[in-house]
Amino acid sequence: MSVELQTDRLILRPLKLADAGQTQRLFPHWEIVRYLNPRVPWPYPADGAFTYYKEVSLPAIERGEEWQWTLRLKQAPEQHIGAISLHTAHCDNRGFWLGLPWQRRGLMMEAVIALNDYWFDVLGFDELCAPKAIGNIASRRISEKTGMRVIAPEERDFVSGRFLTEIWKLTAEEWQSKRVTMGKPRRRVPG
Ligand SMILES: CC(C)(COP(=O)(O)OP(=O)(O)OC[C@H]1O[C@@H](n2cnc3c(N)ncnc32)[C@H](O)[C@@H]1OP(=O)(O)O)[C@@H](O)C(=O)NCCC(=O)NCCS
Repeated sequence: MSVELQTDRLILRPLKLADAGQTQRLFPHWEIVRYLNPRVPWPYPADGAFTYYKEVSLPAIERGEEWQWTLRLKQAPEQHIGAISLHTAHCDNRGFWLGLPWQRRGLMMEAVIALNDYWFDVLGFDELCAPKAIGNIASRRISEKTGMRVIAPEERDFVSGRFLTEIWKLTAEEWQSKRVTMGKPRRRVPG
């Protein structure tokens, strides 16, 4: 099961079914969904978040295949503003989205740094892999800034269509080197 994590400005709280109401209010926007996996239904149904959390996310978390958190500002922890997740699925290990009013403040960068630490140091994986549509500038920028590299271009389907896609990778060693340059103490590796 996931544990609560913190960054300078954020609390990352393990996902609960009760988070579905707020997700349902924030998530169904074209700017948020257009470069996500085409399994996201569009138009987004009125029970989309509840059904997804109940039937997909929470069972996967229970099976130990996913770890999911909602993002909350420390200043207003009662409201979640987005979500981030880690997955054991082949070359699709991380996903994130942020509600429109909170974008472009560097918040997802903070969450990604915390999650990379968790993936490598706590869960002990050797490599993190994520596909990104070439047009998803913000997501690609987060990959660049955290030391990921593109290993292969290919075409993939997204909610908004089929696009050239970059497969981004990061090894534990690469993260270790990059993390040193980011000037923050790392979580200690258990044991
Ligand atoms: C991807 C996403 C989570 C980024 O969140 P965010 O908190 O706004 O990102 P940050 O503020 O940490 O910004 C990261 C970088 O992307 C840039 N960026 C953010 N939004 C951008 C935009 N709309 N256009 C261009 N660049 C953008 C920022 O300027 C920053 O780069 P910089 O440090 O060089 O200035 C957000 O845009 C989102 O929810 N997108 C929809 C969901 C999605 O596509 N998820 C990823 C699927 S792979």
